[in-house]
Amino acid sequence: MDSVKIGLAGAGTVGGGVCRVLNRNQEQISARAGARIEVKYVTCRHPENRSDLVPLVGSLGIDWHEIVEDPEIAIAVEAMGGIEPARSFILAAIDAGKHVVTANKALLAQHGDEIFDAAAKKGVIVAFEASVAGGIPIIKAMRESLVANRIQSVVGIINGTSNFILTSMRKEKISFAEALSKAQKLGYAEADPSFDIDGIDAAHKISILSSIAFGGPISFDKAYIEGIRDLQNVDIEFADQLGYRVKLLGITKRRGTGIELRVHPTLVPERRLLAHVGGVTNAVEVKGDAVGSTLYYGPGAGSEPTASAMIADIVDVVRMIGVSSNHQVPVLGYKRKIENVDVL
Ligand code: NDP
Ligand code: HSE
Repeated sequence: MDSVKIGLAGAGTVGGGVCRVLNRNQEQISARAGARIEVKYVTCRHPENRSDLVPLVGSLGIDWHEIVEDPEIAIAVEAMGGIEPARSFILAAIDAGKHVVTANKALLAQHGDEIFDAAAKKGVIVAFEASVAGGIPIIKAMRESLVANRIQSVVGIINGTSNFILTSMRKEKISFAEALSKAQKLGYAEADPSFDIDGIDAAHKISILSSIAFGGPISFDKAYIEGIRDLQNVDIEFADQLGYRVKLLGITKRRGTGIELRVHPTLVPERRLLAHVGGVTNAVEVKGDAVGSTLYYGPGAGSEPTASAMIADIVDVVRMIGVSSNHQVPVLGYKRKIENVDVL
């Protein structure tokens, strides 16, 4: 069987998960992809701390430029997080004709238009399923399965850390700080957890989904954002007594000729399915004019659920490019139809 070589920048919760799952399910993944997927390089700042990955990968180093400069690498996988050097790595990989898989919603929400334009010019794919709702294939569902629909709204619990905190405060009666610390230990939180608790991560994600749903540019800068930082146990108890659950929701809707884009804690009535989504689980409700209301549910963060989404993207890319020594085959990139919509 032919092989496709990938280089992975980032060997933390997500990058480590990609290495483990690829290794564990290698035969099955290769058979489904039609090629053996080999991790030629993994890079991070402190490879000395990741000796567990050594048996699973070709080489473990510190310099992501090696990935970009190696003509054998067909797919550059980014799991470092943050803006720099992730942005430089991705743009350099695109410039070198490599396809890209990333989980980095912060980067896409702020620099996605630049990255997708660069990829379109170069004829390479940028795949980003893992950037929203962890293991749930929400981007594939919206772009492929719901393609016939005029989307009316997307409403979701799309930050696992916040949902974990809110659920733990309600069920275990622990404090906000204790719940956040547990989420961090479990690898759910961002490197800077204020992104989770201040609603920024959810806003990154709903901005990406809004762009897919409604076709405009990614409008993170126009989103209304309020997080859960100031919520106390007593707020959750009162909501309970009134028949509601407090959920941090990301919401985007058509409104006249414009689009609503917002993130805030919301009182969700107990009769709604979203009220019962607990722990790190995410759920996204998408309404389309043809299909009606659909709900996507699953693990929204964590090592292997996120790896599952990244590997799905890697396999998609391998299937699309075929196995060829010249991997610069023109393929479907991220295509957007810019509609005349304003974010309200
Ligand atoms: P971690 O902090 O666990 O891992 C980050 C990795 O990137 C580490 O190996 C780190 O190296 C490396 N890294 C960070 N900064 C640099 C740098 N400046 N130069 C080189 N290497 C660097 O993060 P996660 O794995 O949790 O997250 C990675 C990405 O995935 C982020 O974009 C995140 O938003 C996204 N994501 C995370 C999910 C999760 O559940 N954790 C779910 C979905 C998406 P070292 O450790 O040696 O310092
Ligand atoms: N910190 C994020 C969350 C990771 O808790 O949802 C998954 O994107």
